[in-house]
Amino acid sequence: MNADDGPLVVLGIETSCDETAAAVVVREEPAKGRILSNVVRSQIDEHSPYGGVVPEIAARAHVECLDALVEAALKEAGVGLRDLSGIAATAGPGLNGGLVVGLVTGKALALAANRPFLAINHLEAHALTVGLTDGIPPPYLMLLVSGGHTQTLVVEDVGRYTRIGTTVDDAIGEAFDKTAKLLGLPYPGGPEVERAALRGDPARFPLPRPMLGRTEPHFSLAGLKTAVRQRAEAVGTLTGRDVADLCAAFEAAVCDIVIDRVSRAMDLAEGKLPPNALRCLTVAGGVAANKRISGALATLVARRGYRLAVPPPSLCTDNGAMIAWAGAERLARGMVDGLDFAAKPRWPLDPGAPAAIGAGVKA
Ligand code: KG4
Ligand code: ZN
Repeated sequence: MNADDGPLVVLGIETSCDETAAAVVVREEPAKGRILSNVVRSQIDEHSPYGGVVPEIAARAHVECLDALVEAALKEAGVGLRDLSGIAATAGPGLNGGLVVGLVTGKALALAANRPFLAINHLEAHALTVGLTDGIPPPYLMLLVSGGHTQTLVVEDVGRYTRIGTTVDDAIGEAFDKTAKLLGLPYPGGPEVERAALRGDPARFPLPRPMLGRTEPHFSLAGLKTAVRQRAEAVGTLTGRDVADLCAAFEAAVCDIVIDRVSRAMDLAEGKLPPNALRCLTVAGGVAANKRISGALATLVARRGYRLAVPPPSLCTDNGAMIAWAGAERLARGMVDGLDFAAKPRWPLDPGAPAAIGAGVKA
């Protein structure tokens, strides 16, 4: 099959973390897509008493609702199994129990409908979303900032990714969540910290900005989180004002780190992008919803002569449409998978890349 064989209608299934999602997308021509349905069920209520995602609870919650979500996605799209060109499911990275639930369902549907199966890398799906939302084809630079991932990468083509920077410890969303927990705010912490920070003074508590100005393009958040804990412990019993000031200081520090690290990634990416490539920064992951961070990124791209493409929040966070779209892009290129494809809880986009620590990335 090649890209000119006509429209492709693909069902996408996402179960890698704490969202169960199913969607149907049609790919009408290269890099032009339309969402026919996009159904998401969040498990936040199940996990919030524990302050984070509990793998066993997540897997069971996926089992309980996935069939109904797939049915709803097909119904809303107005298509039956036989109308599908292929079935895509997230195969990794993520929590093994959840991945297995989505894979088994996707493979069974592919077998029943006698259609190709596509095992999707969740990070690839995030990376290709701007093709669906904005019609932007690779190559471009990407910042992925979620609860589990913090990376900058060059999206060279479908299936070809070069990681530039990655976190050597916590992901940024994880740092938001842990900081929120430490300050007594509910899970997920990102939106809570952002809300509290609006009322806070970012200058009252000086915090470190790990890795700032370093030539290697990586991120580090653990020291910042520890510094927040130390400042909070020094205060003792926290008032609402203390929490707001600590949140504002934390958010300002994260923002400075993101801008500095993305700017460094731009320096390094320029050597990897073809000279006539679109200078475009795309952003995905739940942290992209943060207004202070997205505002600072808009200023950075203007200064560097880039275009900024951020999918709407519902397509930045985990969803089935991005899995279906990645599946359609792969199907169009004949990149289909066997029904024996196993879940890959760890699955870097560029398996050949050196580990983050001591990676020695040169300008
Ligand atoms: O992409 P996502 O929905 O799920 C995965 O981690 O895959 O990202 C969720 C993460 C959580 O850590 C959450 O605290 C963070 O994104 N987040 C935010 C904001 N909204 C969500 N972080 C900072 N500011 C926000 N407004
Ligand atoms: Zn994600």
